[in-house]
Amino acid sequence: MTSIGAPVFEARGASRTFTEHGGGAPVHAVRGVSATIHPGEFVVVAGPSGSGKTTFLHLLAAVDAPSAGEILIEGQPVSALSRNAKAEIRLQRIGLLFSEHNLSPALTAAENVDLPLALRGLSARERRERVHSALARLGVAHLARRFPDALSTGEQQRVAMARAVAGHPAALIGDEPTAHLDSEAGAALLDLVQALVSERRMAAVVASHDPAVIARADRVIRLRDGAVVED
Ligand SMILES: Nc1ncnc2c1ncn2[C@@H]1O[C@H](COP(=O)(O)OP(=O)(O)OP(=O)(O)O)[C@@H](O)[C@H]1O
Ligand SMILES: [Mg+2]
Repeated sequence: MTSIGAPVFEARGASRTFTEHGGGAPVHAVRGVSATIHPGEFVVVAGPSGSGKTTFLHLLAAVDAPSAGEILIEGQPVSALSRNAKAEIRLQRIGLLFSEHNLSPALTAAENVDLPLALRGLSARERRERVHSALARLGVAHLARRFPDALSTGEQQRVAMARAVAGHPAALIGDEPTAHLDSEAGAALLDLVQALVSERRMAAVVASHDPAVIARADRVIRLRDGAVVED
């Protein structure tokens, strides 16, 4: 690894325990995970179903908080940030691509990609360029005016990916981003991730079981029962 500079993400002994209201046994979804992720790294988080991949990504993205330990985003301890400050970091610095892609059903594909750019106050011209170029790089520019319910699951996934990267984030966090794509569309998505990692030194942290994804990674963090078994 040639990367120098402040880490994008740092997990320091991060754990997440879920306790059920009914008083069942607590679930230790993530246990004492420490990892440092730098700009320009493509990291795959692998491990069997239930090993804590999604929970760990939620911690890194500050959509969930650790029960113990600490997460830092670009050097800032997340626990010290207000809810608004966390939302602002996600908007400005992180592209999120979760398997529930959360496209807004009331907006067209292009409007979905545009929304976070508009919230950031970019000019109309810059927004148009970025929306078009992101959709085009994912091969869905011709679907720009369609609403999500008129798109296939894989097309929705690609629109969500366009939305995640159109803002030129410092980091992309993706949960099984190729799960609904055929091998060709999956390869195109991975080409784009790799290009952004090398061209813009974006950090990519992607949870996946897919051997095609793992083969592209600079680094694989393997979880089992919430703990790192290989990095
Ligand atoms: N909100 C929750 N409440 C209780 N338990 C949870 C919650 N979210 C996750 N878990 C549990 O935490 C563990 C890790 O779940 P997680 O979703 O992180 O696994 P995963 O590695 O992403 O699995 P998959 O490959 O199936 O997506 C599992 O045992 C799961 O049942
Ligand atoms: Mg998961």
